[in-house]
Amino acid sequence: MAIQAQKTTPDKPQPQRATRKDNWWLSPLVFALVFGFFAVWATFRAFQNNYYEVGNYLSPFYAPTIQLSWKIMGFNISPALLILPFPLSFRMTCYYYRKALYRSFAADPVACAVKEPEPLYKLRWKKYTGERVFPFVAMNFHRYAFYAAALFMIMLWIDAIKAFFFEGRLGMGIGSLIFLVNVLLLTLYTFSCHSWRHLIGGGQDCYSCSAMNKTRYGLWAKVSFLNERHGNWAMASLISVLVTDIYVYLLATKVITDIRFF
Ligand code: FES
Repeated sequence: MAIQAQKTTPDKPQPQRATRKDNWWLSPLVFALVFGFFAVWATFRAFQNNYYEVGNYLSPFYAPTIQLSWKIMGFNISPALLILPFPLSFRMTCYYYRKALYRSFAADPVACAVKEPEPLYKLRWKKYTGERVFPFVAMNFHRYAFYAAALFMIMLWIDAIKAFFFEGRLGMGIGSLIFLVNVLLLTLYTFSCHSWRHLIGGGQDCYSCSAMNKTRYGLWAKVSFLNERHGNWAMASLISVLVTDIYVYLLATKVITDIRFF
């Protein structure tokens, strides 16, 4: 009787069929639309180099104020082009944005337990290296981008306070409230960061061994509360930056006027 040879080499792993019956596509689609619009608008505004300041309202794309007189081939260099790399590098290397960008723009994978598109899967299955090699290894830059973002928060808070002063007197307009909400959301986003959480409470073997470590544990627990909602702050602050800039733009182009409460 013939004995069949046993197969010893493993088959190429097959992508799993999607078993999810919920609207798993909604979240990556919404992210792609919101982030895509943000990217187009921010690029337009960064190169526009105009309509970014009205009274004490300064667009977050142009904060802090930088006086520039550089020109390239007769064109003024926009200060936003020097400012935006800092907040952008913070966002683009953020853990939440990495997940969302990989899902929405690279379908890698598009959602948990959802099969990758077959051509992409064939292309990638042997070469997958995660974030260990160039260019994705650059994502480790995030911890340093955090320091710049924290510094920017000081300047954005100063701008938000200035938004409550009109001709040297305390006041409040719709714009003041928009600036306040924006800076609050940006603060929640920045200080719910995983890198900040690690700085606060990481690298410890024993939280109860000293008064300092007990304090660090208390702070770490509070940051962890914010950190669990990091994705919400990430999206809310992206939208608030967009709304703040569009509001300043509409005021500067005289499409609308600011309503003052006092
Ligand atoms: S992990 Fe998102 S900002 Fe740091």
